[in-house]
Amino acid sequence: MDFDRYDRVRPIRWDGQRLHLLDQRALPFIERDVVCGSADEVAVAIHALVVRGAPAIGIAAAWAVVMAARAVTAADGAAALAIIDPILQRLAKSRPTAVNLMWALARMRAVLVRSGSDWQQRLADEAAAIAREDLAANRHMGALGAALIAPGSGVYTHCNTGSLATAGFGTALGVIRAGVAEARIARVFAGETRPWLQGARLTVWELQRDGIDATLVADSAAAHVMKSGQVQWLIVGADRICANGDVANKIGTYALAIAARHHGVRTMVVAPSSTVDMATADGSGIEIELRDPAELLSFAGQRTVAEGVKAWNPVFDVTPAELIDVLVTERGVIERPNAASMARAFTKITTG
Ligand code: MRU
Repeated sequence: MDFDRYDRVRPIRWDGQRLHLLDQRALPFIERDVVCGSADEVAVAIHALVVRGAPAIGIAAAWAVVMAARAVTAADGAAALAIIDPILQRLAKSRPTAVNLMWALARMRAVLVRSGSDWQQRLADEAAAIAREDLAANRHMGALGAALIAPGSGVYTHCNTGSLATAGFGTALGVIRAGVAEARIARVFAGETRPWLQGARLTVWELQRDGIDATLVADSAAAHVMKSGQVQWLIVGADRICANGDVANKIGTYALAIAARHHGVRTMVVAPSSTVDMATADGSGIEIELRDPAELLSFAGQRTVAEGVKAWNPVFDVTPAELIDVLVTERGVIERPNAASMARAFTKITTG
């Protein structure tokens, strides 16, 4: 496929000194960068959702480690690690659910452990490799996932899993990009994704820039859309995939998968192997991020809920493996993932 025609947005740019993050809080109307000059600033930006989406969080954290290392003088990587370890731990805590964050930090840590005096350069090379490999994985998954979709199909997606959430092209949105390019996908529905509106503010904006026609719906319209027969696939990303195939993803994914199964819509989860966490047996072991209830109590800075009302704001949920028809990673396609098929494909993947 012609990748240059699609996927023109880049959420993360390293200029050799500082990390430029496209501020996803301000999109779609304001395109501005938050420029981070330290690892601490990156940790704050990850927590504040300046940069978001599991793979993008991991990439940003990797560059944060490069910045943390700049201030350090050490004979080798192991000595440097002893100094910057608290910063790695701080970064790991910036968001708890997306395992790509811990995975990227584990990779940077491993580079330090095995590096000699050139450890600073090795860290920078590793951060660049993490980003490069993510883009390649996404393009490959796009082809694998699109091949499963019959021409003329409609798809429903949730949250934002596109260029903005990755090194580029996207996971679930990459499959949608490839599926549209190959004329397999005829209709795209995107849910708003309350409360942060990743679907409404980010996904349909990305698709519009690519010239891909997409229809925004309220999250609460999803089951109705599925019942109407307009969609054949639910295509979503993941923040963590457990050893038994359970998938943590943006809150609402679980309800969508239930509705999809009820209506004969197939569910496809698309994520790189960096999202697979074989050290977590099943979804009950995943920490679900709870964010400020204020995200539910107001809209665009304007309070919409009576004073004194309480809210609960879990921002991810777990979809049990039995509701997933297909898992697509860059390693291939797994139909109906379960503990046995996950073990065959990913035995060596742990987060460290
Ligand atoms: O809270 P967010 O916006 O970081 O949540 C993002 C998601 O849930 C995505 O579906 C997931 O990270 C995959 S992004 C390729």
